[in-house]
Amino acid sequence: MGGVSDGAPRGLDGGTHEGRDDGGGEEGREFTMRLRTWQRMMIGGVCLGLGTLLAAVQIEIRVDQPGAPIAPTMWGVFFEDINYGADGGLYPERIKNRSFDFPEPLMGWSVVRLEGSEGDVATTAEEPAQTVRPRYVRVRSTSPRGGLGVQNEGFFGIAVQAGAEFDFSVRARSRDVRPPVLRVELVAPDGTLLDSRVLRGVPAEWGELSCRLIPKARELKARLNLVVEGEGSVDLDEVSLFPRDTWAGRRGGLRRDLVQWLADLKPGFLRFPGGCIVEGRHLETRYQWKNTVGPIGGRPLLVNRWNTEFKHRPAPDYYQSFGLGFMEYFQLCEDIGAAPLPILNCGMACQFNSGEVVPMSQLQPYLQDALDLIEFANGGADTEWGRRRIEWGHPRPFGLKYLGIGNEQWQQDYLERYAEFARVLGARHPEIVLISSAGPGPDGPHFRFAWPRLRELKAAIVDEHCYDGPRWFFDAAGRYDQYDRQGPRVFMGEYAAQSVRTGSPENRNNWECALSEAAFMTGLERNAEVVVMSSYAPLFGHEEGWQWRPNLIWCDGLRSYATPNYYVQQLFSRNRGDHLLSVQVTGQAPATSREPGLYVTACRETRTGEVILKVVNSAPEPRRAHVRTVGQGAVASRGTVTVLTAAELSEENSLEAPRRVAPITSRLEGISDFWAHTFPKQSMTVLRWRAGR
Ligand code: AHR
Repeated sequence: MGGVSDGAPRGLDGGTHEGRDDGGGEEGREFTMRLRTWQRMMIGGVCLGLGTLLAAVQIEIRVDQPGAPIAPTMWGVFFEDINYGADGGLYPERIKNRSFDFPEPLMGWSVVRLEGSEGDVATTAEEPAQTVRPRYVRVRSTSPRGGLGVQNEGFFGIAVQAGAEFDFSVRARSRDVRPPVLRVELVAPDGTLLDSRVLRGVPAEWGELSCRLIPKARELKARLNLVVEGEGSVDLDEVSLFPRDTWAGRRGGLRRDLVQWLADLKPGFLRFPGGCIVEGRHLETRYQWKNTVGPIGGRPLLVNRWNTEFKHRPAPDYYQSFGLGFMEYFQLCEDIGAAPLPILNCGMACQFNSGEVVPMSQLQPYLQDALDLIEFANGGADTEWGRRRIEWGHPRPFGLKYLGIGNEQWQQDYLERYAEFARVLGARHPEIVLISSAGPGPDGPHFRFAWPRLRELKAAIVDEHCYDGPRWFFDAAGRYDQYDRQGPRVFMGEYAAQSVRTGSPENRNNWECALSEAAFMTGLERNAEVVVMSSYAPLFGHEEGWQWRPNLIWCDGLRSYATPNYYVQQLFSRNRGDHLLSVQVTGQAPATSREPGLYVTACRETRTGEVILKVVNSAPEPRRAHVRTVGQGAVASRGTVTVLTAAELSEENSLEAPRRVAPITSRLEGISDFWAHTFPKQSMTVLRWRAGR
């Protein structure tokens, strides 16, 4: 046995996390402040630790007894188009209602008259460019000078960076003998012209005109003008303004900073497209994946179910363009190395809304959608949907393995439908692992009704959801300790601590919520035999366009930041390990919301030979612990320590202070097979060191 060393961190490694706002100065100051706070807490901890040496908690880790494997899918990401997460968020098309097919055809648009031009602007569907989104706008300018046209407001404004390149395109037609020219302009709210181009050669039949715009200044609230100059009549449809700067530089691709946040999580899976959006408020408006693939113009528009969900946050202009559809979701999974986890409608609309249910005798189209999706993702050129995937640019299969049947469904209606999906898909595709629903909450009648039946049905993985206060999360770290090891596995598919209550617009992404999630997640990891997947929800929130909070990542049109909750997720997923290690904590009662203390879990990463010890200290003072490593082989004297904490439980990150609560990694010396470490008050700590063979 070696001596007791303090194992205090020695020097910072500079950190690996980049701020993603424009305000580097503020961030630098904030980082220094946080560092000082943290150092003070550590020094306090050391003093207190010396005083309480004999009373310290003991953490004993058995390196020679690797436990259950930790599934590669353990820590994943849940995506839903809520809070303008897709259009206006991850999918960076700047033009809202680009094909004039919202029920109010000019929503997002207004008429512009330059120099008092005369004429009229109206929408019609006569001889359309295409039939899926048939409506377009006709601009008839009757003044020889000036210009008449339409202006688009974008998603909470059109956000542009100075000098960035944007591809503009429009489908246009003019039956005039001498068609007029079009002017495209980006203008700031004060009227400053940011860039402008003239488009000539409007064709007599529908054709695309395009140009590049390069704004001369940064602006979050720009507008786009599309104007017919002089006299003439032009039909306009499918207007697009798309940044060149996208993830992986793909034309029409996803927003780079937002995908980067996901990639930085190294998630085990990506669940898409939700959430309640899968179900729709009515069956007619359910999510249908086949409508979201193929050429973009052929993807029919659909109302977003969050459009009218919350009276306190109405979003009448919230529709799904499906620029981000199933092809893009699969591509995203591939890009960030996450297993795809699509969730399909099981013949039931949202039971919080209409609760419409398809009769069992009419379930076939829903089953067929599932079969076709498997073919689309995994099939070869000899299959109908595999061939389409190849034609649309992705020859390699996407390697689909998991499929969710229904979102938050409950009662007998669901179980009957799930059983039918399981029967049909099990026979045709035994290689696909199905995920079933335990209802909307982590307990209660629906939950208790579902579980025994799902066990009887030999369900593979059951999706549990939990939105509750921090106290629930502090108290639920032991939730899975008693779960049947032989029964279905668990997917904690949606969870987030609510600082006020579920659905409250006052909920905050504060440190208390994140800390309670961290405590809970130690319980998920300790039960890796049972829990094989988990994801925080929802993922994105637009600062101006949210309906629901809290969310993992917040953004505006250009900037984004990660919440303390994100950093908790990241610390778990970037320190996943592959096997649990047996760990015993003595010298304290199991921590709860009433009796705060240390929540502990340990695992091993075979690749590096490292022990990974995660400790959440929920107590309002530092806690010292002796760490004993038992097993074969030597223990390295050096490792790393990463600490995530905040001066107050109420602290949050924001666009202005994006890293107020963010992890700090340092080198750690003085490790041995029996050493001491002080865990700062209300903190999460990840310790890594090499031990054993
Ligand atoms: O995450 C927000 C919503 O909460 C999801 O759409 C739904 O599944 C849950 O009720």
